[in-house]
Amino acid sequence: MDVKQPIPGGVPGGDGKDKFMKSHQVAFYRRQTQGPKMQYQALLDTLILTEKGARFELLEPNKQSMLYVSVSPCKNNTVRIVIDELKPIKPRYRVPDVLTQEPKCEMVRLEERQADSVTLSWTSGLYRCHVWRLPFRLEIQCDDQTVMTFNAQSKLWFETLRERSQEAEADTSEDNLWRETFRDFVDIKANGPTSIGADLRLHGFHDVFGIPEHSDSLRLADTRDDEPYRLYNLDVFAYEIHSHLSIYGSVPLLVAHKQDRTLGVFWLNASDSFVHVNYSQEEDGPLPHTDVHWLSESGVIDCMVLLGPSPAQMYRQYAELTGYQTLPPLFTLGYHHSRWDKDSQEEVAEVDAGFDRHHVPYDVMWLDIEHTDEKRFFTWDPKLFPDPAKLQCYLEKKNRKLVVIIDPTIMVDPDWSLYQEGRDGAHFIMDREGQIYQGNCWPGNSHYPDFSNPQTRAWYAKCFALDRYKGSTPSLHVWLDMNEPTVFSGPELSLPKDTVQFGGWEHRELHNLYGFHQHMAAVDGLMTRSGGSERPFVLSRAFFAGTQRLGAVWTGDNLSTWEYLRISIPMCLSMCVAGISFCGADIGGFIPEPSPELLVRWYQAACLQPFFRGHSSMNTKRREPWLFEEEVTKAIRSVIQERYRLLPYWYTLFYRAHTSGLPVLRPLWMEFPHEKIIFSMEHQYMLGEALMACPVTESGVTELEVLFPGAEQFWFWYFSFGMTSNRQTFTKEA
Ligand code: NOJ
Repeated sequence: MDVKQPIPGGVPGGDGKDKFMKSHQVAFYRRQTQGPKMQYQALLDTLILTEKGARFELLEPNKQSMLYVSVSPCKNNTVRIVIDELKPIKPRYRVPDVLTQEPKCEMVRLEERQADSVTLSWTSGLYRCHVWRLPFRLEIQCDDQTVMTFNAQSKLWFETLRERSQEAEADTSEDNLWRETFRDFVDIKANGPTSIGADLRLHGFHDVFGIPEHSDSLRLADTRDDEPYRLYNLDVFAYEIHSHLSIYGSVPLLVAHKQDRTLGVFWLNASDSFVHVNYSQEEDGPLPHTDVHWLSESGVIDCMVLLGPSPAQMYRQYAELTGYQTLPPLFTLGYHHSRWDKDSQEEVAEVDAGFDRHHVPYDVMWLDIEHTDEKRFFTWDPKLFPDPAKLQCYLEKKNRKLVVIIDPTIMVDPDWSLYQEGRDGAHFIMDREGQIYQGNCWPGNSHYPDFSNPQTRAWYAKCFALDRYKGSTPSLHVWLDMNEPTVFSGPELSLPKDTVQFGGWEHRELHNLYGFHQHMAAVDGLMTRSGGSERPFVLSRAFFAGTQRLGAVWTGDNLSTWEYLRISIPMCLSMCVAGISFCGADIGGFIPEPSPELLVRWYQAACLQPFFRGHSSMNTKRREPWLFEEEVTKAIRSVIQERYRLLPYWYTLFYRAHTSGLPVLRPLWMEFPHEKIIFSMEHQYMLGEALMACPVTESGVTELEVLFPGAEQFWFWYFSFGMTSNRQTFTKEA
């Protein structure tokens, strides 16, 4: 690693930690959790029924502020609840580009009107919605069973837009609503306080999952005495394990499961968000429930409740909203070899030849940032890569591909045509003073393309055209990194929330969409490059709901320890729970050195995860599979060969995900929804519906006890096809 460059996030456990905010340091979180309880009142006589469902007004008595609620039952067993200001002084941000279509609504009937409540129904009375006047609550019933109550704990919170007041702006206290400081960073809030929040009680549920990305258990933890889960895309090098702090990606989909129903709560909001999970306790009575409290810095309340009832139906409902898993090209399911290094074109060809010499199958060679001309993305270092097309043709002859890294940052270099185009085309994010925002990342001083602007996405997509991206060929694919985005010089190593994007929106409104929008542009670029004839491969570090329809993701800068190997499993499962199937972790850990035993166990585990890539940092020893003792090389070779044997199965699973929305990796509850004891299991999981995975993730372990659910089920040991009993110990040598 270039020693001049800071390590993003700092040293694990060192000064990196306090670069990121804890919930108590975030002003809107403090306001909502410490502020007065709001008691909203539903004005039931304003209720109207339209083809989009029901709509009525809400009053917050102390403030006299008026909101409206719309409840739209959608055709696919989804209920959408939107709350916005009735007469805002200007429109509030609504998340674009994530929903693939406006959900189609069902007709609602007014069943009953009482002094204190109304009852609505749809689908021949199967579903009912009760709205209570004071305190306002909204209850969804299915077949007379209450499934969910919105605002059960009266945590609804809605800061309505207000005029700027100079007095408030001048106030320098910590509770100032128009400015917030963190370390040396000052965040000026152009619109003042705009936060929103709401709680949902999920009746009968005691197991909830999803809302990646966190390095935490599969079943979400109770956050009563703990940090809430945060959703705010950040570059956190060597993130802490079992933490609720945010890392690279965010999907605001929480999935609850009980024996007779799987239910999703999709909170469509792209601003800084927190989620509290409280499981009911014994003293709360016999029927368990889970309270989920969402808090977001901005936008509107747009909450979709996906009613399932089966896991398959819930995933179909989610895919209908945000898109189905893209069907990746077959080669992308094979083995990928990556390393951050300064290899030349000849050295890369030499590594490629090594795979053949040592009979290790692989499909894709990767190049990190050093391949560029001093970190100008879309270029090549002229000394290291004098003829990059030649390298691609050489690989292509063997049916192999090349992937190159493209960070979003564009070096401030007035003599560089890409920089000039970006500047002249007004494609960069602006600071709050109206100047192009300048931050520091790998290229040094950099600008950040505003991918939320459709014209910027179109411009960026064209940068991938074969005649523009010199040295690229149709077999070149793409890796998007640092797209949370990373700003070494920015607050929490990212863009200031008060920078300004397309349409005049502050970055705070759409922070979590930054990487998603870059991903959209890159996929579009590769599709257009091939005239629509090829399915592109684009890996992205940052992600959001909908990323599944674009490509793959990985778990970023992990460490070479057994804990990180273990956590990679629930991390990937959580992404799959949230609909993103094409995920994986750097095999062996990004940094520092895995022991040979750990490396082999990591290959064995990763072989059972969708994205299968070895990657390591520059200041580690090289890890080509043949650089170890013969025993180790042999073990790695045999794992990779195993992966190739299973390739048709992987490809079929992706086809299923592409057509049904069902994830490729499945927590056991998805396949055995009635077997309570397996709901929170995370060291065993299913690959589709037919294979059970249970990798070794501890040093010195050669025997595992595996539970095989399904009383009526026959299970076979994959390696010998012998039949097993329902709880069996297996021996797995390294
Ligand atoms: C950070 C990424 O997470 C890592 O995989 C990559 O090698 C470095 N950036 C350098 O590009």
